[in-house]
Amino acid sequence: MGHFVIRGGRPLSGVVPISGAKNAALPACVASLLTEEQVIIDHVPHLRDVSTILSTISSLGKRVVRDENSVSIAGGEDLRSEAQALFVEQMRASFLVLGPLVARLGRAVVPLPGGCRIGARPVDLHLFGLRKLGAQVSEGETSVTLVANRLRGARINLPFPSVGATEQIAMSATLAVGETVIENAAWEPEVMDLVALLTKMGAEIEYRNGSLYIQGTTGLHGARHAVIPDRMEAGTHLIASAITGGAVTVQPVIPEHLRSLLSLLAQAGCDIDEDDDAITLAMTGRPRPINTITAPYPGFPTDLQPPFVALLSLAKGESIVEERIFENRFSYTSALRMMGARIDVRKRKAVITGVDELHATAASAPDIRAGAALVLAALAAKGESTIDNLEQIDRGYERMARKLHGVGGEIERVS
Ligand code: EPZ
Repeated sequence: MGHFVIRGGRPLSGVVPISGAKNAALPACVASLLTEEQVIIDHVPHLRDVSTILSTISSLGKRVVRDENSVSIAGGEDLRSEAQALFVEQMRASFLVLGPLVARLGRAVVPLPGGCRIGARPVDLHLFGLRKLGAQVSEGETSVTLVANRLRGARINLPFPSVGATEQIAMSATLAVGETVIENAAWEPEVMDLVALLTKMGAEIEYRNGSLYIQGTTGLHGARHAVIPDRMEAGTHLIASAITGGAVTVQPVIPEHLRSLLSLLAQAGCDIDEDDDAITLAMTGRPRPINTITAPYPGFPTDLQPPFVALLSLAKGESIVEERIFENRFSYTSALRMMGARIDVRKRKAVITGVDELHATAASAPDIRAGAALVLAALAAKGESTIDNLEQIDRGYERMARKLHGVGGEIERVS
């Protein structure tokens, strides 16, 4: 897998090409289970998590053909109802196959995803919704079995707007009898992108006043869909521009999808220009301190919290960042402290006292977004850093070193 060697201190400048959104591509691939016809997804990024979901889907009996930019998924006349543990253990999003399988086959057995570094990440809301749709759920130690003659529409109120639970229930409800209403549904851009694909596949699905309305159909047909640009990748590279005092454009991107981050970066003193599908961020000097909390869309996204905290470690003053989505998403700050950052974590709050410089270190990427935070800190730090455990970075960032190198970052991947 290798490691990154990063020499910090150089401002980034130029244009970073943004890939298709990982968190839109994953549910889009799962949606192909809802039909035997061909589904083609464009702008699918080359990421480990995408490879995992495609392995999961082909292990269930689908024919998957991947080329540079697109994935074609078809067939599955005899879909298997049991997903293999390997894939769900590798990536939580594989759990999304549960609902589509039970909606198509009347039966599904899927291993339970383990927790991970950022939290326990239960699936109780997924199972709550599928029970409401009429599935008989039996939970084993390591897997869950669902049985249902035919799912029936229901009114489901989510106590928390869970992204995964919303996607799981919405996909299943497209093949239920009658109307399903998901109240307090997640409406992240990636969820709305899945809704766009399901609509192209013939689903009657609409988001209105905080709820998702789905009219069940007897079946869906094939479609072709290009996923949205990855706002988390775009946000990460904008923060890279800010932390190195550079001037970087990210493109393509949908600025509306990053409104909360852009507002915080402007408050921190960044100059931001945007047009339809591009955002340019320029920064000189140290950022102003910022207080913020992570929240469901359109709030500040938890996936940009680690890169943003890396930026705030160089702010001119004290910042407070509260993580309200996951219970343990500050573990990476220990590596930032090794680089000279002054960060005090108390439960879900990080108090960051800005310093005027960071110094190089050797660190491991703990998870996707924490790994990105360490790369950004190393790009700003004095000296030469190494970051290993790159499989975490490869899960969520396509060709990260090459893209950063393309805008002047002194970063090299050493196998
Ligand atoms: C999605 O995860 C994303 N992953 C995550 O991105 C992202 O951080 C998260 O949404 C929040 O925006 C994908 O889309 C593949 P949730 P998901 O269900 O669906 C609790 C990345 O780095 N919860 O909205 O798992 C859960 O524990 C990843 O790209 C329950 O309690 O997120 C968490 O505290 C990391 N019960 C909160 O809700 C459930 O049944 C948010 O979870 C489900 C979730």
